[in-house]
Amino acid sequence: MSLLEIKDLNVYYGNIHAIKDISLIVEKGEIVSLIGANGAGKTTTLQTISGIIRAKSGQIIYHDKDITKMKAHIILKEGIAQVPEGRRIFSHLTVYDNLMLGSYSIKDSMESKKREIAQIYERFPRLEERQKQLAGTLSGGEQQMLAIGRAIMSRPEILILDEPSMGLAPLLVKEIFEIIKDLNKNNNTTILLVEQNAKMALSIADRAYVLETGKIIKEGNAKDLLNDDIVRKAYLGA
Ligand SMILES: Nc1ncnc2c1ncn2[C@@H]1O[C@H](COP(=O)(O)OP(=O)(O)O)[C@@H](O)[C@H]1O
Ligand SMILES: [Mg+2]
Repeated sequence: MSLLEIKDLNVYYGNIHAIKDISLIVEKGEIVSLIGANGAGKTTTLQTISGIIRAKSGQIIYHDKDITKMKAHIILKEGIAQVPEGRRIFSHLTVYDNLMLGSYSIKDSMESKKREIAQIYERFPRLEERQKQLAGTLSGGEQQMLAIGRAIMSRPEILILDEPSMGLAPLLVKEIFEIIKDLNKNNNTTILLVEQNAKMALSIADRAYVLETGKIIKEGNAKDLLNDDIVRKAYLGA
């Protein structure tokens, strides 16, 4: 039994059939990547997993439990957190308050939440230096770190990231990917990563799925896909 299993998922926006019979699995401890061009349906897939968008048909199973019709805040509580596309931090709140809000789903003492924040500051020293700063004044890379930190505050078993490298300079992209790898290796967090930057995504993933106009056209070991002719031509500029 996989940690997360999507079976024959179909999602529509009105008449637009955005997700067509997608099936995929994520095993405990894996980094799984979903790659594909703009408009392929990556964000729609992730938002359906998180309960933000409703599927027309199909199932999403997490730990033996059908979460397809669960509300978003319950899915978060169950252990699946998402760092959304474009980060969506609260720009008029401080870094500290953004992090605190990330744990709203957890019934824990203030002390323990503060300890959690201290751990996030260890991972992201730049956030500690800027903890009283309004989040909207952070650089793009710092905002991405904050978005990841906020998601970790809910102590997810699965962290879903929607294009974390978008709009970041190459050095920061590397840094963000190192953070994702570290969360997976040292924090026991299973990762589902969506990227247009296929090369980076495939370089850190265990397995990957290639999405094209709402359909999965290829899946396999990330290393095999890096060497796959079709993937190289379409997504790696080779
Ligand atoms: N709110 C929406 N209303 C109508 N169509 C949408 C909406 N959001 C996305 N779509 C369409 O669904 C398809 C998949 O979009 P999306 O999941 O955002 O792709 P990706 O994240 O891979 O770029 C696209 O054709 C897009 O135009
Ligand atoms: Mg998207």
